[in-house]
Formats: sequence, C-alpha cells, structure tokens
Amino acid sequence: MSSSNPLRDPADRRLPRIAGPSGLVIFGVTGDLSRKKLMPAVYDLANRGLLPPGFSLVGFARREWANEDFAEVVHDAVKAHARTPFREEVWQQLIQGMRFVQGTFDDDDAFERLRETIGELDKAQGTGGNFAFYLSVPPSAFPVVIQQLKKHGLADQSSGSWRRAVIEKPFGHDLKSAEELNATVEEVFAPDQVFRIDHYLGKETVQNILALRFANQMFEPIWNRSFVDHVQITMAEDIGIGGRAGYYDGIGAARDVIQNHLLQLMALTAMEEPASFDADALAAEKTKVLGAVKLPKDLGRSTVRGQYAEGWQGGEKAVGYLQEDGIDPQSKTDTYAAIKLEIDNRRWAGVPFYLRTGKRLGRRVTEIAVVFQRAPHSPFGHTATEELGQNAIVIRVQPDEGITVRFGSKVPGTSMEIRDVSMDFAYGESFTESSPEAYERLILDVLLGDSNLFPRTEEVELSWEILDPIEEYWDKHGRPAQYPSGTWGPVEADEMLERDGRSWRRP
Ligand code: BG6
Repeated sequence: MSSSNPLRDPADRRLPRIAGPSGLVIFGVTGDLSRKKLMPAVYDLANRGLLPPGFSLVGFARREWANEDFAEVVHDAVKAHARTPFREEVWQQLIQGMRFVQGTFDDDDAFERLRETIGELDKAQGTGGNFAFYLSVPPSAFPVVIQQLKKHGLADQSSGSWRRAVIEKPFGHDLKSAEELNATVEEVFAPDQVFRIDHYLGKETVQNILALRFANQMFEPIWNRSFVDHVQITMAEDIGIGGRAGYYDGIGAARDVIQNHLLQLMALTAMEEPASFDADALAAEKTKVLGAVKLPKDLGRSTVRGQYAEGWQGGEKAVGYLQEDGIDPQSKTDTYAAIKLEIDNRRWAGVPFYLRTGKRLGRRVTEIAVVFQRAPHSPFGHTATEELGQNAIVIRVQPDEGITVRFGSKVPGTSMEIRDVSMDFAYGESFTESSPEAYERLILDVLLGDSNLFPRTEEVELSWEILDPIEEYWDKHGRPAQYPSGTWGPVEADEMLERDGRSWRRP
C-alpha cells in the first residue's frame, strides 16, 4: 500500500483547483457581458480563494478612464451581480492588481501600453508573465485584436510563461466565416492556447450529464435506440431581445444558441463514453457524434422558425419583434427555431432529436428530455393505462436545476388505474453548496489551462455544417411564422411533432 497521503494525490479531482500566478486582460470591458458576468465571476473566484494573491485584471477600452475609474466600474458590477457576499478584504486585495489601458483596437500605442502594463504587473504582482486575453468584443473585431496581440508580442510564450486567448461567441456566421476566423486565430495562437467560450458547458447541470450517464450503471443500458423513442432539447427564454438589436438582428435564434449551446447539449447527451475525462478524449467523442448528425431531407417539414409578435408576458404587454427598437420592420430574423435531427450511428439510428429555442416563450426553462418507448405489452388492459404517458428522464438544466424521472404508478384504490408520477432530484435539496456561475468555472479553467469544457475548432465547424443548410433553406423560403409573446411558439412547431405522432413537452 502506498504511504503517501491520499489528500495530496494530484489526480484527486476533489481537491480545490487554484489558479497559479496569472492575470486576465478583458477587451470589451465596457460591455454588458463584462459587467454582468466576467467581473463578478473574477470577484467570486477571488472570494472563494481560487485566485492567486497577486491576480491581476486589466481592462482595455476606448473610454478615458484612469485605473481608479475602472476599479469603480468593477466595484459596482461586483456589488450588483456577484454570487457571493461582498468582503472588503477580498476587494482590497483584488484592487491591487487592477489596471486600465485606454485605446482602440487599431491603436499601436495602446497595445504597447498594454505590453508595458503586463510587464509592470509581473514585477509588482508576481503574475509571472501568464496572461489570458478575453475577447468580449463583436466578431468583426476578433481579427484586428488577434493581429495586434501578435504584432506586439503579446501572444508569445517563448519565455516559458503562458498566453491564452479566450473567444466569446458568435464564432462565425456560417461554416465559411468560422473557418476564416479559425485560420486567423490559429495563425497566432496554437490550438492549446485558444479557449472558445460556450457558457452552457460551464453550467453545473450540463457537466452533470456526463456524471449521470457514465458514473452510474442504471441509465446507460437503456440510453439507445432500443429503448428511447426520441429526445427533446428545449431552451426557452421569457425575455425578448432587450437592448441587443444590433447583435441579434440578422443572427437569430438558431445561430445564437442552436449552433452552440443546443448542439453541445445534444452531443453530451448522445456521445459514447470517452476513454477518460481528458479534454482530447471528450472532444473526440463529441466530434464523432456531431459528425454523425443527419439532416432530414425535407427541411420544410422538419424545421420551423418563428418570430414573436405582440402579446402578454408576466401580466405585461410585450411588443412584437418587428416593433422592437433598432429592428428593421421587414426583418426575417428568427426568434424561435425548432429542428429535427437524426444521428446516424448504431446507438441512435432512427431516434429523432428535436431541438427548440425561442425568446418570449411561456417561461424560462432549459431541459433535456429523453423520452422512452411505451412498454411493448400491457397486462393491465387499455383502460387501466389510458392516462399513462411515456417514461422519461428529464435533465433540468435551469432554472429549477435537477433531474426528473417520470414513470407510471398505480392510483391508490381498489381498481387498477395507472398514471404518470415523477421522482425528483433537486440540487437545492441534495446539496448545501450553491452552484458556481458558468463563467466562474470557465475563467478558472482558462487560468488553469484546462480545456475540457471548451469546444474545439472541429466541433464549431461541424455545428455550422449542420446549421448552414437550414439557414440557406430558410433564406430562400418565406418568412418566420409569427407567435404571440408569452406562448410556446408557432403552431407550425406543434404540427411538426404531430406529424411524427409526438408532442412537445410543456415544461
Ligand atoms: C447567450 C445568447 O449565449 O445565452 C443569449 O446569446 C441568451 O441570447 C443567453 O439569452 C442565455 O443564457 P442563460 O445562461 O441565461 O441561459
């Protein structure tokens, strides 16, 4: 038996993972994402003791701010949006490493100042030259920022320190633009220096898909075409586009979230067991399953897009998409999309995967429902099981995080009547600790160089390969169907499932 202390085993995944000496540079620091998610996540990590004492945060933007102004903005963002309580001593330590660099993306002097700032932080804060550059900027700005990083030697790791690029979605607009973008990024950064954010992968419940499937014995034997009737993946939002008209119009629901979040959820649900939990092994399995996706021949009958019209949401009148500020009244942009896919492999052949998403739907909910076939024979007779639905395992991604198993049970009484009941696991009840925000997890992983939860080039490109023909079809055929805000999407989406003898869940 080994005499070493098992608590010191570096392979022990229960140990807290703490980032080594490092810093984070955020481009687009004045944006919404930065204030609502990135800055609070940095604070929450610091508060949980997962950042090194000298951790540094550098903001880069056009505003005429001094370091103090930047620190104040971070302070307000943290106070408003951090998950964990505000602690003055944590804040005082964090503020030591905060710097602001003023400039535009094409400004060489500004990038020189950024280089000097990093050098100064290495000395003052002991960041060791290890910096991640977070591009929270519009995709049109990716190439110039990447090129500037190269030109000013900021991507260079030759001194033994690390440099990483973190790229926010949308990663391209279609396959061609994604390939061009990948080429631009990979001209400057090696693949292991690039971290593409799909924040859904940072969600606790999404990581739990793999735990549910591969740490247990009871689910995997039935997780295939012999038992599963179909899979429904829903990402419903009750909000509209808010102030994001500039980003959203021309992009739409399918590019915004199906290309990334929903296809990643599908890949995790459908993939084979990886040989290990390493990034390479995981990516290989996800890539295989995305590569096996088959689009139905008739896209007119197996896809639906919609656009929210005016309606009622949470007791308030909501305007239609075409009446939103900044939207072209002729816009054909989809705010709802439903598609049917198949996966052409031995496990899933013939099992439809229905993916749907929409804004201004009945309520905010993301879930994966694996719906099983009916029992092949019922000894109870038709009347006893009239109200029995199909068994299902539902992974509740958010907001009510957990897992539900639905099955039939006898209604108490002297007669035999069987009805659906459910058995629930809820995070809030089983664990005392609350789940970290996705961005906390992902920023920590970037600083640790752990790329498990970041989609690779191949995954991004395969996802566009799936979506491109659908977008092309939609471009050529008509307009999105209208649906009243606050409902569950266009009737065409219901009809799409009815044709297959199925119906959408009403979560
Ligand atoms: C983003 C999309 O990726 O995800 C937004 O661009 C969407 O349109 C958001 O609202 C939803 O994220 P979450 O974590 O709130 O489900």
